[in-house]
Amino acid sequence: MKKILFAIIGIMCLMSCGSNKTFTLWQLESQINTIGNSYVIRTVNGKVIVMDGGYDKDYLRGFIDALGGEVEAWIISHPHDDHMTALSKMLENLNGLKISKVYHSRFHDELIDSEDANTAELTRKFYSLLDNATDIEVIDCNCGDEFEIDGVNFKVLSEKNPEIRGYNDSSMVVKVWDNKKSIIFLGDLAVKGGQKLLDSEYAKDLECDYLQMAHHGQDGCDKHFYETVKFRACLWPSPSWVYNNDQGGGFNTGRLKTVEVRNWMKELGITEHYVSCEGLVRID
Ligand SMILES: [Fe+2]
Repeated sequence: MKKILFAIIGIMCLMSCGSNKTFTLWQLESQINTIGNSYVIRTVNGKVIVMDGGYDKDYLRGFIDALGGEVEAWIISHPHDDHMTALSKMLENLNGLKISKVYHSRFHDELIDSEDANTAELTRKFYSLLDNATDIEVIDCNCGDEFEIDGVNFKVLSEKNPEIRGYNDSSMVVKVWDNKKSIIFLGDLAVKGGQKLLDSEYAKDLECDYLQMAHHGQDGCDKHFYETVKFRACLWPSPSWVYNNDQGGGFNTGRLKTVEVRNWMKELGITEHYVSCEGLVRID
């Protein structure tokens, strides 16, 4: 099965080379229908960038290997386990994988300790692995930081917000674009962090083609945030039980707010949706 996947990715890459002068974005589906945030970008000349990476280390490693086995940049929105576990596990044993740079917004002790003890422990372990990865350049980002990789531009629009307790509102928000398309990754940003971003000088950058829905599409940013951002399509990093708010009792019978957010999108006239539980998404 893995070999078939690698072959398909390889053929798809070859088809894109030279014919399409824009980067490719993949939204990876969870292999076990669990929550997670995982995106891979491939530039026109084959540079690979990972956004978060979710839980599925083996699946993601296979995906990266199929693209050449080298990661130019790995961006971590925040150190919740559904965002950084794959990278954390890979750092324990890189097993031939080359990672050049990791970009994140490093949390201080007070913010780390604002979450439960298990999350704090996982975060400190992740940071320790980063500190010990001497072959990897680790960049602690600030709002407004920009970098460019093979014609693809990256800009940090939001970083840690230690005055707001909890990790989600400290998600590093990153805009990615070239001259063909743009994407904004919101991580798990919530209401307060979203409002702070709207009130910041970076609100002017909140325009994109593809918007990653905050916090897997539920209980993230509020309706006002989505009404303010100009975007065309939604990226939903959501397992089916989150997307449909169905934890066993049927559509929209759980306590999640995803269907409410889906209805906001209908009101906004957004009709283009890419949902991770419906399969691997590729956008060129
Ligand atoms: Fe998350």
